[in-house]
Amino acid sequence: MATDTGTTPAHGILSDDGKDDREQLVELLTRAYWMEIETVMSYIANSINPDGVRAQEIIESLDEDIQEELGHARQFGQRIKELYGVVPGSLDFQAEQSYLQPPDEQTDIVHVIKGVIEAETGAIEHYNQIIEFCEGRDPVTQDMVITILRDEEGHRRLFEGFLREYKAAGLA
Ligand SMILES: [Fe+2]
Ligand SMILES: [Fe+2]
Repeated sequence: MATDTGTTPAHGILSDDGKDDREQLVELLTRAYWMEIETVMSYIANSINPDGVRAQEIIESLDEDIQEELGHARQFGQRIKELYGVVPGSLDFQAEQSYLQPPDEQTDIVHVIKGVIEAETGAIEHYNQIIEFCEGRDPVTQDMVITILRDEEGHRRLFEGFLREYKAAGLA
């Protein structure tokens, strides 16, 4: 993808020399976009399905996260466009979150907690890769992803705390 005028910036990710980096970055961002979209799907299901008194805290947390993950998806999409990529259509979607499928019993909250931790861990790993790739190439994307990474670390930490409580109670 070439930029559209004769006056492309001489430096940075939007320069002509930055084309290969840009295309690699759009691929990384596209993967991130899909991860966020799948997380939204999984968190919606897992914020509705769980049964029981213990489920309520999890349901409330996931309700909040859904909005944040949706916001992340939008940011990744916007950055894809700014880098001359195209946000993909739904036919390109491939599901990966086997660990966040509904459990056999809807009172199995530990299954949900562990699934969320795994999803957040996957996001943290991928976003660290993007941040590394951006080093010396694209400070703007790097800055955006650092902020998103902090959200994911916060989500992960919260659910790690839930798991700790279940373990202390002998339930996990
Ligand atoms: Fe996210
Ligand atoms: Fe998250």
